[in-house]
Amino acid sequence: MSEKKVIAVVGATGAQGGGLVRAILSDPDHPFVARAITRDVNSVKAKELAALGAEVVAGDVDDPESLRRAFEGAYGAYCVTFFWDHFSPEKELAQARAMAEAAKDAGVKHVVWSTLEDTRKWVPLSDDRMPTLMEKYKVPHFDAKGEADQIFTSLGVPTTFLLTSFYWDNFIGFGMGPARGADGKLAITLPIGNAKLPGIAAEDIGRSAYGIFKKGAALIGKRVGIAGDHLSGNEMAAAFANLLGEEVRYNAVDPSVYRSFGFPGADDLGNMFQFKRDFEDDFRSVRPVDETRALNPSLQSFSDWLRTNRERIPLPA
Ligand SMILES: NC(=O)c1ccc[n+]([C@@H]2O[C@H](COP(=O)([O-])OP(=O)(O)OC[C@H]3O[C@@H](n4cnc5c(N)ncnc54)[C@H](OP(=O)(O)O)[C@@H]3O)[C@@H](O)[C@H]2O)c1
Repeated sequence: MSEKKVIAVVGATGAQGGGLVRAILSDPDHPFVARAITRDVNSVKAKELAALGAEVVAGDVDDPESLRRAFEGAYGAYCVTFFWDHFSPEKELAQARAMAEAAKDAGVKHVVWSTLEDTRKWVPLSDDRMPTLMEKYKVPHFDAKGEADQIFTSLGVPTTFLLTSFYWDNFIGFGMGPARGADGKLAITLPIGNAKLPGIAAEDIGRSAYGIFKKGAALIGKRVGIAGDHLSGNEMAAAFANLLGEEVRYNAVDPSVYRSFGFPGADDLGNMFQFKRDFEDDFRSVRPVDETRALNPSLQSFSDWLRTNRERIPLPA
């Protein structure tokens, strides 16, 4: 029987978990075994992970029993929730609790919990700088993750709290990339004023989490923030211009304008960007690029990420 330590990875067919599974499997020293958790072990993505060498097991964060089975015998567990699949902070809290309880029951030695700030510690509900959403949140997809931190702590689960950053992949998959305005000019639109935005290649989140598992006990109980670059809207626009060979402007809108864009989650994201703008120092200082690179030596800068993804970023018509 293998004596290697198993890391059970929630969200293994997705961005964060997928990056971690690939990082585990590509380490030539192979100190860990990747256990990929998926709701469908027969999906194309699940089979791809199996072909790369991952152990693929069934598990659903809405089904605590399935998580217990999936975490059984594991040394480590990567825990992440999927806000944009359901838009429910309460569901995220329940899923976080289910993962924390399963990790405790299985005696997991090191959990990495993918979290974000509970922005209500900076902007209480009574503060009308930004609207309260869903009755008790300012940034619902941040606040529930931050609130869930104490579930891991109070259950005594040995946890590293991983503070992730804005995925640059949103410029491709989330419709945030350069678009032509009425004047025919390309622009990226963000409500962050002159603030610099910590960002990261989604793949680097899992790679950084892998660095945390390799460091082990030293990072249990710690909060570890990660980013590949901190860039202003103008700097990101300039990098796009350089890539596309055409002028790209930064269209700095007010968060209230962004909230009114009307796509699902626009109010949540408008508040999120306002939080990152208004509390720029607090938000950036906990996401140091140098320390992220120490965990993940192949960390990509924004320019690296743009070059790697050139084919996925077509010049808009
Ligand atoms: N976009 C950003 O800029 C950003 C930045 C920081 C943090 N985040 C956070 O990242 C989280 C999402 O992580 P991600 O981007 O890695 O997700 P993702 O790429 O959308 O992947 C989701 C994967 O999770 C699995 N999944 C979904 N529901 C599940 C369930 N009930 N039980 C078990 N597995 C389930 C799915 O796998 P199967 O279908 O195989 O089960 C899917 O492949 C969100 O909560 C978001 O707030 C996003």
